[in-house]
Amino acid sequence: MKRVGLVGWRGMVGSVLMQRMREENDFSDIDPVFFSTSQTGQPAPDVGKEGVPPLQDAFDIETLKTLDVVLTCQGGDYTNAVYNKLRDAGWNGYWIDASSALRMADHSVIVLDPVNRNVIDSALESGVKDYVGGNCTVSLMMLALGGLLERDLVEWVSPMTYQAASGSGAKHMRELLNQMGELNQCASDELASPSSAILDIDRKVIDTMRSENFPTEHFQVPLAGSLIPFIDSQLENGMSKEEWKAGVETNKVLGRSDNPIPIDGICVRIGAMRSHSQALTIKLKKDLPVAEIESILANANDWVKVIPNDRDASIEELTPAKVTGTLSVPVGRIRKLAMGPEYISAFTVGDQLLWGAAEPLRRMLRILQE
Ligand code: HSE
Repeated sequence: MKRVGLVGWRGMVGSVLMQRMREENDFSDIDPVFFSTSQTGQPAPDVGKEGVPPLQDAFDIETLKTLDVVLTCQGGDYTNAVYNKLRDAGWNGYWIDASSALRMADHSVIVLDPVNRNVIDSALESGVKDYVGGNCTVSLMMLALGGLLERDLVEWVSPMTYQAASGSGAKHMRELLNQMGELNQCASDELASPSSAILDIDRKVIDTMRSENFPTEHFQVPLAGSLIPFIDSQLENGMSKEEWKAGVETNKVLGRSDNPIPIDGICVRIGAMRSHSQALTIKLKKDLPVAEIESILANANDWVKVIPNDRDASIEELTPAKVTGTLSVPVGRIRKLAMGPEYISAFTVGDQLLWGAAEPLRRMLRILQE
């Protein structure tokens, strides 16, 4: 059994990972060692087995060196502080990481096994030890488009995203709800009276949203009742870092960074809680009938689900409200666009904490045990 160190298991991504590992009985096949950056010596969480040691110091290189695998959801700062020290100390174990710190390093592979199991297998064979979860938006888009990517049918993709608050973190989710609450409260009297004027309500809402007291500590600006058309930091070429990741990470996942598919669009934060949505404009390499495109997409993996391009089915199935908390990745609104027969639209949604973060990591841990 592999001795697996878990770091950052109490945070938001870590908690989702723990939940999935419990559901899938993953702990019965590993010797888990739980680490902490602040509570060394306290009891480990109950994972249904005896003999799990108390929390170990996440910065203690000597203890980390005893592990076969480190699985960290602690974030990029932790990886930057510990990874090199651990390797320099001669550790040759597997490093599985939710953060982006090592994602584009030459020595790492981005893991999304339903799409790139071949890339993972050849990396394992050639001795690669670092396996990193992809950006959530990228992983969710790739699960949705897996069939077309696998067959090399895509000339380019332009994703326009609708990203949930959770992508920024737990505090941001709370702030979104606080903003929603403030907006509701500021007009609660008028809302209680069906005869009140909607433009009066609207004025109160916008005044509240623009007031200095509106809670914007984390997002900097209002999100509830509004949106934020820039995610992550700004790059010199005008892209946001989130937009840059779409192209570079997708091609790295596919192992084709030397022959990249152009993927570029605009990433937008909206007031969803934890599921990211994306509207995709895709240029295919050839004119395929919609039914064939749907069948290629539907058969690519167990989680993608093609939703017919029908109004009722779309509003029922293709939403954060439907998908959150599940591993399902629906893709729909598939139709030919007016630009020509090779141009199609698609719309996809996925839980950014499950397939977008935790799930590829626990599956990588499983792959190491095969
Ligand atoms: N960067 C993503 C977001 C989440 O801000 O929504 C992490 O992949």
